[in-house]
Amino acid sequence: MKNIILFADPGIDDTLAIMYALLNPEIKVLGIVSSYGNVDKEQATDNIAYLLKLAGRTDIPIIGGANSPSSGKIPTYYPEIHGQEGLGPIRPPENFSGELTNFSKIYTIIEENDDVTIVDVGRNTSLASLYLLGENIAKEVNEFYIMGGAFLVPGNVTASAEANFYGDPIASELIVKNLDNLYIAPLNVTNKAIVTLEHIKIIQQMTDNPLVEIIDDIMKYYIDAYTKLVPGINGAPLHDVVTLSLMVNPDMGKTIRRDVEVLTSGSGQGTSIADFRVSSKPAEKNINIYLEFDYQLFLEDFIKVMTGKK
Ligand code: RIB
Ligand code: CA
Repeated sequence: MKNIILFADPGIDDTLAIMYALLNPEIKVLGIVSSYGNVDKEQATDNIAYLLKLAGRTDIPIIGGANSPSSGKIPTYYPEIHGQEGLGPIRPPENFSGELTNFSKIYTIIEENDDVTIVDVGRNTSLASLYLLGENIAKEVNEFYIMGGAFLVPGNVTASAEANFYGDPIASELIVKNLDNLYIAPLNVTNKAIVTLEHIKIIQQMTDNPLVEIIDDIMKYYIDAYTKLVPGINGAPLHDVVTLSLMVNPDMGKTIRRDVEVLTSGSGQGTSIADFRVSSKPAEKNINIYLEFDYQLFLEDFIKVMTGKK
């Protein structure tokens, strides 16, 4: 069983990741940190609250994270991929709004629970703030899983940068330099975690869970958006879900232990670099980059968790 605090910015793949975490019997969600990213923080908070309501899990605290990146610049949002409100065509009901718990709640959760894992599937601003406000966090948290980066493969925001690292490269660089027991799921693997409308249909035929009822509309929007970016893709990558799936099933992928650098400025902003030459040495800290994973095992795990059936 993994006790997790999930940092998210829903966002369509974040939404599926929240569902996956709530439905997975191997995961106990202790709190969800809401931050800017795919949408603004207020919208992300409303979306998280709506998902928790559908899941009947309003007991899970929504913790207020960052409003904007460390640079102080106004964030860029991505309505063309995630929809105006972050859930594709779905909107939380009129006048529905989520309530936030103070950021300090994260320290309380970590104090009160053994073996906490932090999973960050958004921009890294909130996680970097957590570290800066209490550096012991690096020792008190069991392990960190983050979705971010692109190693020797194209980026998805610029030629070389992935969206989470690009969105706040100062925070990402701070994290990769200071956290230990860090597992990174970059585009190298997440771009391949493609889920199609056929998979969604199979899932919906196997369960009548109200949480899962909305995923066909959401995924259709997301797949249409991806099809414009990558003609013929027939599906869309669930970056944030595969990060959680790797946390629960670490042997589903292969990692390489290397130091990582994130470029913080210039045309390479957000680019992630690691030395993969044969002569290069493993990182002193336990920093692991997933470069491969088993797609079939991922699909089986995703369908099993979303349906509650083997
Ligand atoms: O690059 C993929 C990441 O950026 C995911 O976390 C997705 O939600 C987007 O924001
Ligand atoms: Ca995300």
